[in-house]
Amino acid sequence: MTETPTETPGVVFPQNRSCPYHPPSGYPRPSRGDGPVSRVRLFDGRTVWLVTGHAEARALLVDPRLSSDREHPEFPVFARRLADTTQRRVELLGVDDPEHHTQRRMLIPSFTLRRTAALRPRIREIVDGLLDAMVAQGPPAELVTSFALPVPSMVICALLGVPYEDHAFFEAQSRKLLRGPEGSDVEAARDALTEYFRTLIAHKRREPGDGLLDELIAQRLETGELDLDALVRLAQILLVAGHETTANMISLGTLTLLQHPEQLALLRAAGPDGVGTAVEELLRFLSIADGLSRIAVEDIEVGGVVLRAGDGVLLSTAVSNRDATVYPAPDALDLERGARNHVAFGFGIHQCLGQNLARAELEIALPALFERLPGLRTAVPVAEIPFKPGDTVQGLLELPVTW
Ligand code: HEM
Repeated sequence: MTETPTETPGVVFPQNRSCPYHPPSGYPRPSRGDGPVSRVRLFDGRTVWLVTGHAEARALLVDPRLSSDREHPEFPVFARRLADTTQRRVELLGVDDPEHHTQRRMLIPSFTLRRTAALRPRIREIVDGLLDAMVAQGPPAELVTSFALPVPSMVICALLGVPYEDHAFFEAQSRKLLRGPEGSDVEAARDALTEYFRTLIAHKRREPGDGLLDELIAQRLETGELDLDALVRLAQILLVAGHETTANMISLGTLTLLQHPEQLALLRAAGPDGVGTAVEELLRFLSIADGLSRIAVEDIEVGGVVLRAGDGVLLSTAVSNRDATVYPAPDALDLERGARNHVAFGFGIHQCLGQNLARAELEIALPALFERLPGLRTAVPVAEIPFKPGDTVQGLLELPVTW
């Protein structure tokens, strides 16, 4: 039995957050009486479904009737600048099973808990090195460029075998890829990264190193299992996903903790288990990757409505993670709540491949930052801190700090 969908044709998606750590107040929310699945409008006037219920999001993310195929002509996009870039192949994130499974299987060994645990000492060294440099330089500092971005950037470079000396180049391209103002910027950034990886792979074929990229060259490219174009696209995804997201969690996580001193005190006092629990809550609370995109390939009945084949479907991880039936007092940051089953890393076959790595980075970086700089505080009024627009990964453009 289906009901009339919650019609919210005036509601536009995505919207900018008015507070960087809360979902936009204009999104439908089941806890305010909206249904778990609503209609919203994209920038071009097209109407798509927005899933905001926690149970509905988890059910849909494992449902093969929803496709991630970016090449589908009706695949929903968030912004005009991205409109020209659809119908381009995206490995892993943008393909369905069984092909997705084949690609993911090649990468899983590098992202297991065991492999990630082995990287912890290296992550610790990177974090300590960056904090040493901040201390040597003295306050004030801009935390995104001096800490939040280089931590994951250095880690993913080490894992992939990409030279960190090239970081200014690829960080700039990633930024354009995710929030370039124009479609042409997005296109240009993708082309620049493609060229970069073609050259790097050619070099590595002559002089192999010991990163994941080198393994993929030896075990998948030279054997013909992956062609060069596919490997280049895969490398781009790993590099961009590997640093942009975690960087935003570190910067926004830091600001959020500074704004919640009683919670920061809990983090400072927490042992290793407590830090893990705290990071899970920060992931839930901040849900920086908001608006996962899919297209229905068959009719699906969910949350009292029917999604028709060909309908665009977006999933708001931020609102689903504030579902009061799962997380009591969902708008409160509670580092001790034990936030299980959140969808900040997605769910189902595309659930974040790098989640163990991201957790390790956050569990090391955040406590170390507050331990090393006990007087850390924002250097400008919070209202002046610029944060990212709604159509990209959520986070801070800059975080001026002092200590
Ligand atoms: C806190 C940081 C991170 C967050 C919040 C995050 C979030 C996500 C989310 C929500 C998805 C699912 C997308 C979807 O279903 O459409 C995803 C997928 C993915 N993430 Fe992450 N991510 C983070 C860090 C990382 C890191 C460090 C890597 C390292 C390479 C990474 C690599 C990937 C990859 C490769 C996928 C695609 C997996 C697939 O399609 O099978 N992520 N991530």
